[in-house]
Amino acid sequence: MRHLYLIGNMGSGKSTVGAHLAQLLGMPFVDLDTWIEQSTGTTIAALFEREGEPAFRERERVALQQVAQLPPHVVATGGGVVLNPANWAVMRRTGWIVYLRAEPETLWQRIQAPTDRPLLHTENPRDTLRAIAAAREPLYQQADWIVPTDNRTPDEVAEAVKRVYAPTPEQPLTVEVLPAQPHSYPVLIAPNLHTYAAERIAERVRPTCVALLTHTRLLCWAAPLRDALQTLGIPTQLITVPSGERVKSLRTAQRLYTHLLDAGIDRTGALVVVGGGVLGDLGGYVAATYMRGIPYVQIPTTLLAQVDSSVGGKVAVDLPRGKNLVGAFHQPALVLIDPTLLSTLPARHWHNGFAEMLKYGAALHEGLWNRLQVMLEQGALRRRVERNNPHAWTLPIAQCVRLKAHVVAEDERDLSGRRALLNFGHTVGHAIETALSYRHWLHGEAIAVGMIVEAELGQILGITPAPVVNALREAIARAGLPTRLPQEVSIETLLEAMRYDKKRAGDTPRVVLLEALGTARLVSNIPLNALREALKRCVPSEPSVGCS
Ligand SMILES: NC(=O)c1ccc[n+]([C@@H]2O[C@H](COP(=O)([O-])OP(=O)(O)OC[C@H]3O[C@@H](n4cnc5c(N)ncnc54)[C@H](O)[C@@H]3O)[C@@H](O)[C@H]2O)c1
Repeated sequence: MRHLYLIGNMGSGKSTVGAHLAQLLGMPFVDLDTWIEQSTGTTIAALFEREGEPAFRERERVALQQVAQLPPHVVATGGGVVLNPANWAVMRRTGWIVYLRAEPETLWQRIQAPTDRPLLHTENPRDTLRAIAAAREPLYQQADWIVPTDNRTPDEVAEAVKRVYAPTPEQPLTVEVLPAQPHSYPVLIAPNLHTYAAERIAERVRPTCVALLTHTRLLCWAAPLRDALQTLGIPTQLITVPSGERVKSLRTAQRLYTHLLDAGIDRTGALVVVGGGVLGDLGGYVAATYMRGIPYVQIPTTLLAQVDSSVGGKVAVDLPRGKNLVGAFHQPALVLIDPTLLSTLPARHWHNGFAEMLKYGAALHEGLWNRLQVMLEQGALRRRVERNNPHAWTLPIAQCVRLKAHVVAEDERDLSGRRALLNFGHTVGHAIETALSYRHWLHGEAIAVGMIVEAELGQILGITPAPVVNALREAIARAGLPTRLPQEVSIETLLEAMRYDKKRAGDTPRVVLLEALGTARLVSNIPLNALREALKRCVPSEPSVGCS
């Protein structure tokens, strides 16, 4: 069941926009306050007056549960629906939650009759509204998506929400990355977007010719794109490389430069990458360095690449001593994310990508974390039919992209420590990958255990509460990801591998630690004995302590 729940303060336009939206989407509309008024035969103001706020909130909770059982509706909720965690659980289980956001001054101007609003029956209703808005803002921020409504008409807001709830190749969900910069670029997200990819590339990048980098197994997606580009008059050369982390090397990069020269690519051309994170990192690195930089387009084909590596412009190849040790910051010109491309992705790679999604939730956004728990409960990863439902994945993928875009805008070059938060689980995860020579374990699997070790470390250092460590461990296990270090790797080998971590400050590693679910910080001067102890807790032969 997929309702569209609109949340927001009084005056945010939930009822007006909701009615427009219902028409646009051809869905029925229900206003929760009207539902309560009709079922009680009295006004909300009178209910508040007669029974007080707690009794009203209980009626609201019951009404929400009733509405949740209807077939999909656009639901305008009351402003205070977010105060009860039980309401969040119902809304998450049965639909998407969109926050219509407005500045307090806009809210005030929109509220024509404050006397109809029981909460504003105070001496200074304007100040009361501002205080309520400030207090509820952190709750509203937990929505699946936020649509700003200041200076927009209800029609415009309804169109914006439609793109969130039902994006199409013609009207995709769009996230602008680095919006204030000359090298800003859009990430377009929609099921079946691949059918429009050639037009989008032509419009945005206007390349004179294209080199299209992919794997042989992805020709089912890449070959039609090549044909479509050629039809638009853009000469396009397909280049295929084998799969696997090992191609993320200087050797392959050198081979690709030769291919680009052979294909006649210069700075008026573009490199289009149809592939996962390996190809995105490799292709991006080649695009950053070939002829001092050419434009490139990411069309990510793994969950991991869609939620993470295709956005943000970190491009790199590995050295035998460690991952991503040679690289650059080179932002793509365009990113096209189509969850339909994941229909051919093997199950193990779904779990792998989900690890990065859990990372976003754990480190940056409690609302996303809770959304991912609901997805796990509902079998989103377990059942093939659920995995192959692009509509179920579009918004959670877009949430990750939005979070990444925020962080990248704040700290494009990873200087302030803000971007480092995306590396929760990665200090240990990268060490595992290096110790295993990038074989046997996938990136997300290594990150999964890395997150648990780093949560244990946080607990040892008194930063991460024990329930957070447990919740993380349970979620990772439920997502079918490893929770213990690989058998064949010793703790000393992992500590040695961490010596080359790029986040190091001097002799000791810096590690991202969780303060709560959704809140993390980068901590320097990590004592080696604490790190050793955290690793010990996740060794497979000691099942009684820590990770299970
Ligand atoms: N640049 C960044 O910000 C960043 C962030 C996270 C991870 N990474 C990097 O990403 C890499 C891992 O990426 P990955 O997990 O996507 O691995 P990957 O690119 O190797 O792809 C995984 C496998 O799936 C196959 N595949 C890809 N798409 C498919 C599809 N749609 N259908 C069928 N098969 C498909 C590939 O051929 C490959 O065998 C690592 O090198 C990691 O360091 C980079």
